[in-house]
Amino acid sequence: MEKNGKRRAIVTGVGMYAPDKILDNAFFEKIVDTNDEWIRSRTGIIERRILENGATSDLATKAAEDLLKSINMSAEEIDAIIVATVTPDMFFPATACLVQNNIGAKNAWGFDLSAACSGFLFAFQTGCSLIESGRYKKVMVIGADKMTSIVDYTDRNNCILFGDAAAAVLLEPTEDESLGMQDSLLKVDGSGKDALYMLGGGSLNPPTHETVDKKMHYLYQDGKAVFKVAVKGMADISYDIMQKNNLTSDDIAYLVPHQANLRIIAATAERMGISKDKVMINIDRYGNTTAATIPLCLVEYYRNGKIKKGDKLILSAFGAGYTWGAIYLVWAI
Ligand code: UT7
Repeated sequence: MEKNGKRRAIVTGVGMYAPDKILDNAFFEKIVDTNDEWIRSRTGIIERRILENGATSDLATKAAEDLLKSINMSAEEIDAIIVATVTPDMFFPATACLVQNNIGAKNAWGFDLSAACSGFLFAFQTGCSLIESGRYKKVMVIGADKMTSIVDYTDRNNCILFGDAAAAVLLEPTEDESLGMQDSLLKVDGSGKDALYMLGGGSLNPPTHETVDKKMHYLYQDGKAVFKVAVKGMADISYDIMQKNNLTSDDIAYLVPHQANLRIIAATAERMGISKDKVMINIDRYGNTTAATIPLCLVEYYRNGKIKKGDKLILSAFGAGYTWGAIYLVWAI
């Protein structure tokens, strides 16, 4: 490493997994009072995936294996694994431990990080810090959620929104300061706790027959309330990170937004002055997969040859907590 230069964290590999089983909008027309037109026009979602058998660690393990295979790397080389999720297999052990064991990452430590839809951004920043510290050389960051495990399929407001998936990136150091993670703006505001949550199962409401009867083990969202703050929060922070780094919309190759609602994504792009063709979108095929949305976009666009070395990307998200943020990343592979 250069003595005076900054060490940057770059993405050197990507991997993903989405289950085969598809739930299309017609499926929801049969189980709740909704229709394809409403779902498409209000959210942008056409279909989403569901993992029928297995847990979040299975999604994450498959994404990690896909990554390792694609760059022909042994799991034993990994120093640390961070799994961003709100649907861990269990409270403990951490999903990261289960993934570590499944893939045989004998030399890794790791942990889970809970920041809902901003989880990947928070985990990415954390992973980059481990690399920038000089202490670790290969850090795997995974966004994984089995959202269908906490969805109430009688609640038409929310059941249509979510899907299951996982995606992973590998972070490694570089001496080239022009590549990799350049900047981040990350925020929390716990006053948003009443708009999007899962009340049951934790120390506040340990599981009882009553918590089950009251449906407290399902996700609750006041969609309208979240929409209002998300639209402003994600647009503002994405704009702020551009300003802070003297970036114009022409400089940016892609906005990589959390995929919760196409209208929130469009508002963010508009605020940044970014045209539609420079916005990564896959909400139509996966719905909202919480921590997995952003890395899933990165994997698909990279593998389709749409991003190249040197491309400037703005990753941005808004989610439960509230949590939100933006990351300025220069693609390095
Ligand atoms: O990812 C983490 C952060 N989450 C988000 O960013 C999500 C933010 N929120 C949203 O994306 C949107 O608020 C939703 C997609 C959840 C809802 O869209 P909306 O345009 O805000 O709809 P709404 O909640 O205001 O509901 C409008 C109407 C209501 O009927 P009335 O009261 O006007 O008669 C709802 O009952 O649409 C009704 N509605 C539905 N109709 C058909 C709600 N869900 C459905 C449905 N099908 N599935």
